[in-house]
Amino acid sequence: MKRILVTGGLGFIGSHTVVELQNTGFNVVIIDDLSNSKIEVLDNITEITGKRPDFHQIDLRIKKDVQAFFDNHHIDGIIHFAAFKAVGESVQKPLEYYENNIGSLVYLLQEMRNRNIDHFIFSSSCTVYGQADELPITENAPTKPATSPYGNTKQIGEEIIRGTCKANGLNAIALRYFNPIGAHESVKIGELPLGVPQNLIPYITQTAAGIREQLSIFGDDYDTPDGTAIRDYIHVVDLANAHIAALQRLIDKKNLNNFEYFNVGTGKGSSVLEIVKTFESATNQKLNYKIVDRREGDITAAYADTTIANKELNWKTEKTLEEALQSAWLWQKKQQTS
Ligand code: UD1
Repeated sequence: MKRILVTGGLGFIGSHTVVELQNTGFNVVIIDDLSNSKIEVLDNITEITGKRPDFHQIDLRIKKDVQAFFDNHHIDGIIHFAAFKAVGESVQKPLEYYENNIGSLVYLLQEMRNRNIDHFIFSSSCTVYGQADELPITENAPTKPATSPYGNTKQIGEEIIRGTCKANGLNAIALRYFNPIGAHESVKIGELPLGVPQNLIPYITQTAAGIREQLSIFGDDYDTPDGTAIRDYIHVVDLANAHIAALQRLIDKKNLNNFEYFNVGTGKGSSVLEIVKTFESATNQKLNYKIVDRREGDITAAYADTTIANKELNWKTEKTLEEALQSAWLWQKKQQTS
């Protein structure tokens, strides 16, 4: 069976993808620098799958360490999650974001080229579309200038991969994620935000758990039915499975171009208020919230047209929003007790 390197494999999306890869029969090697993850996740992946993935603590910014890893390991494909991802922080620390997100990508691609390793899956984001002119967003929607260094690293990352595919014959797929939420049904892995959560769902679950006093809803004067902003929230396990589908497409040589990109969402938009209401009904919790000003940089609405991803990847989402929010809540409660 193919041996797949998962960078950032102990992180939120990475850990769920490692579980699905192992359950599908792939051999997995994880590289993670533990900068935004915990080593315990390795034990939890092992408990879920019955198999301990090979793990290496490596900082991908250190080129000689990346080279040494590839000197010692045979790899058939790479799923590259390892990156910094906080939008606000990226505005404060642009150089750290460019060094980490772009530097590590370049080093990995160099090793792939030098050693003839094919099959590369890249974590991209729907942020590349900015506020799209038409909804739902198809892959044909134009990309817009990035509004943060984080977003820019995703756009530049895609361009670097596109150029490498063209010049060196590498086959790659970028997955443009919408908003990943939820946790594995085993409640052994989930999202572990550091400090005060910036994203909506962890803020909601921490508020329901009493860690935060109140959720602030950023703006109710958007041009949407209830005035709050609309996003496409996808269960992280569905998102993880999109990676398996993309990898299999490359292995089976079913890709139509060297470099492809797909929207990975549910196709359904939910407003912040709808999320709050659905969370309350799905978990039987009352949520304390208030409306505050808009958050700078936020867009009005983004949700995916999944037609192309469904067809080309032979993949579709299977979990409901209720299931995703329930799993996020179970995961939150587990954090309090463990
Ligand atoms: C954000 C990033 C996106 C990144 C994604 C990673 C921005 C502009 N975009 O997406 O690039 O890929 O995270 O998960 O930061 N909200 C509240 N109160 C809160 C938190 C959020 O009302 O306390 C609202 C936001 O205004 C937004 C929605 O909830 O309308 C979702 O926010 P969030 O979870 O931060 O995701 P995005 O902003 O969509």
